[in-house]
Amino acid sequence: MSDVSQQTETGQTTPKPSGGRKYEREVANFVALTGDLAAGRLEWSSRPYYLEYSTNSACNLRCIMCSQVENPPVVSTPLDLQEDLLDALLPLTTIWTPSATSEPLLNNFKRLRPMLEKHQVALDIITNAMLLTPAVLEGMLPFLHRLTLSVDSHKPEVFEKLRAPADFATVIEHSRHATRVCREHGIPVVYHMVLAHECLPDLEDYVDFVADLGGSRITVLELLPNSPQFQELDPFQRDGEQHVAARLESMRARAEERGVGIFFEVREPLGGEYNYAPVASRINSGTVLEMMHGELGIQHEGFCPMVAGYFKVEPDGRAYPCCRAPVELELGNVLEEGFEGVWNGEKMQKLRKRMFERDYPQPCVGCAVLEGPRWRAEARRREAGETE
Ligand SMILES: C[S@@+](CC[C@H](N)C(=O)[O-])C[C@H]1O[C@@H](n2cnc3c(N)ncnc32)[C@H](O)[C@@H]1O
Ligand code: SF4
Repeated sequence: MSDVSQQTETGQTTPKPSGGRKYEREVANFVALTGDLAAGRLEWSSRPYYLEYSTNSACNLRCIMCSQVENPPVVSTPLDLQEDLLDALLPLTTIWTPSATSEPLLNNFKRLRPMLEKHQVALDIITNAMLLTPAVLEGMLPFLHRLTLSVDSHKPEVFEKLRAPADFATVIEHSRHATRVCREHGIPVVYHMVLAHECLPDLEDYVDFVADLGGSRITVLELLPNSPQFQELDPFQRDGEQHVAARLESMRARAEERGVGIFFEVREPLGGEYNYAPVASRINSGTVLEMMHGELGIQHEGFCPMVAGYFKVEPDGRAYPCCRAPVELELGNVLEEGFEGVWNGEKMQKLRKRMFERDYPQPCVGCAVLEGPRWRAEARRREAGETE
């Protein structure tokens, strides 16, 4: 293996952002993380393997459960800063989701393609599918790590109420095509459903709908209070936790029957992972790194897996340790302080300390991301035939 890491005076292994092959640097970076975690360090030599960043915050829809419904101004990274920023962020990034609570397909991939090639980064695309034409999919295929389609309901009237001004027929046509093509290429496809009151009565039919589209994996997301319509959409307030629990159990049973994997990213005790389908996988370093981070997350249960390996940058440079990006966890601004200044800055070190001590900041308490490693471990035991 070529020289992709170096020893510091304290014996830490620091992965070099350049030099050697990309996969060698990715492995060195992962090993550095195991050292950072095991030693309880606050200043890390490892770098995030997963980046969330979009050059702009634009969206083509105004979904009523999303903050975009309030028409926030579109923010973009100044064009002359984009390349330098990506050169700073991408060398040790394995997977990149180009979103900022926005539509990733509104990035200019023609302009970004040379950066993807230069840094050998794979794309994790979570899209509303309105712009996912066969031609757009074709252009992304060589870089695609995973495709997630946000289709909250199989009923046109419910879907179009939640996702205005999306057109149900267009979304379904694009989704059906993309699911088939990705399947042929061994690329995992996930269907995202935001759990709204309107979706609750027909969760079993939704599983059938996804299976009939060729899908084999569903993630049910708990509705977060991101829009003024939260109260009227929230099934926990409208229908009560007991009813939600019964409906999710019925959905799980149908998923088992249909061989569709399901992940409930919802509050305890309703969250869980059920791997009823093997996830199609074109094995790339993203697949392997995700598995390794999954294992590490189980080993360090209680230390948020996103704080360990994820980094979110808004188009204006503000950075966060996770996708939910609560203002309380803002880490600084990479356009002002540089990546290193934020990644090992005072706020990040303080957050790592609190994670090691399991003394969580308020936004982390009860967060489904923090519970994920335990759900994965439970799924593993279930699959091995052990009772819980
Ligand atoms: C913010 S969107 C950005 C990507 C893209 N525009 C889309 O809709 O797929 C990312 C994911 O968050 C989900 N989402 C939107 N509003 C939400 C909310 N209030 N609570 C939980 N998830 C939400 C979307 O359904 C989508 O799957
Ligand atoms: S959920 Fe996605 S598609 Fe809908 S408004 Fe938000 S960012 Fe746009």
